[in-house]
Amino acid sequence: MKSPFQYGKIAEGTTFVNRLKEKHMLKNNLVSGINTMLISPRRIGKSSLVKLATTELLNENKDIKVCYIDAFTLNSEESFYQTFAREVVKSTSSKWESWLSTGKKYLQAFSPRISIGNDPMYDFSIGLEMSAIKENETELLNLPEKIAKAKNLKLLVCIDEFQNLAKMKTYPELEQKMRSVWQLQQNVTYCFYGSKRHMMMDIFNSSSKPFYRFGQIMFLSKIAEKEWVDYIVNAFERTGKSISTDLAKTLVGKVDLHSWYVQQLAHFVWNMTDSTVTGDILLQAMEQVIEANLPLYQRECEALSATQINLLLAVASGEQMLTSADVTAKYRLGTSQNVSKNKKILQNADLLEKTKAGFDFLDPVFKQWFVAEYVR
Ligand SMILES: Nc1ncnc2c1ncn2[C@@H]1O[C@H](COP(=O)(O)OP(=O)(O)OP(=O)(O)O)[C@@H](O)[C@H]1O
Ligand SMILES: [Mg+2]
Repeated sequence: MKSPFQYGKIAEGTTFVNRLKEKHMLKNNLVSGINTMLISPRRIGKSSLVKLATTELLNENKDIKVCYIDAFTLNSEESFYQTFAREVVKSTSSKWESWLSTGKKYLQAFSPRISIGNDPMYDFSIGLEMSAIKENETELLNLPEKIAKAKNLKLLVCIDEFQNLAKMKTYPELEQKMRSVWQLQQNVTYCFYGSKRHMMMDIFNSSSKPFYRFGQIMFLSKIAEKEWVDYIVNAFERTGKSISTDLAKTLVGKVDLHSWYVQQLAHFVWNMTDSTVTGDILLQAMEQVIEANLPLYQRECEALSATQINLLLAVASGEQMLTSADVTAKYRLGTSQNVSKNKKILQNADLLEKTKAGFDFLDPVFKQWFVAEYVR
């Protein structure tokens, strides 16, 4: 029988838990034309939520179209514009035959090389010369509005891992242009989401930056314990197995309610269980989770310097005053400048996050492994 738990793919259908409030708010914003920036640590469920909310909007409103762009792999302006143009064209024409005519019609000025491969659903590309891009940036950024107006549509443009665009050398100019063109659009609403909180906040919440107050910033929090527990107990029941509420609570507690890990641990537990989950099974499954992720954790630690590992050690030991003389000496953290630099590096690497009290690990299972491995 197929496991009722899933990870590594976006959660949908029966694997999607709750998020009613967030979904409602996101849908309301997008349908009302309010640009929305969604931020959460990695693997908490941004992509899943955006996909579900926009799919529902798509099904509920005939005149809404949605365009998805993943900025994770976009590393140049050229690739950004090509992907942007392609996805806007694709999402606004329903059949692939019309992608070609839409593409040609609206991109005329750029003499694009439009090609359709063997599998037209996927092999569709729009080649634009860099010189043509440079001369027509405003036009290109206005493409969604132009098509949406002409076709009488509302277009939602969703850009995943938006903060990745900021890594481009030319991003500051691009950012200016995007903001000045996009803020005038009436038929297009933007949804940007990303996991690098401080980078996203820097882009969208610094008063000196173009995207300041471009829309609403939403922080996606973890799914509540009760929702997880109900979902897990149900999923076991549905598949002819059982888990007690108490053990389901222990399960989600072990991975600190982290969406991806809850699904992974629940999947391992489900696999190991014939009929009823026991505490022993839970322990073994948790070991399996750590084992499955071990290569990643080791690789992450290998990439760190000695003072960075020491800084993680200090955080793992509960130290909050990381630049105080006592702490820097005890954990051999180097100079206070060194500590500041390492804090930034560890945040950029998604290992640490700033909390109200100081710093904490972003990945709850990595933290457990790290403590067992390094802290005596
Ligand atoms: N609403 C949900 N219900 C149940 N499981 C979920 C939910 N959202 C996310 N998950 C679990 O977490 C995993 C990661 O979800 P998703 O890819 O949506 O997160 P993300 O925040 O976009 O991650 P990343 O930062 O890696 O892009 C999914 O594969 C799924 O197992
Ligand atoms: Mg994602």
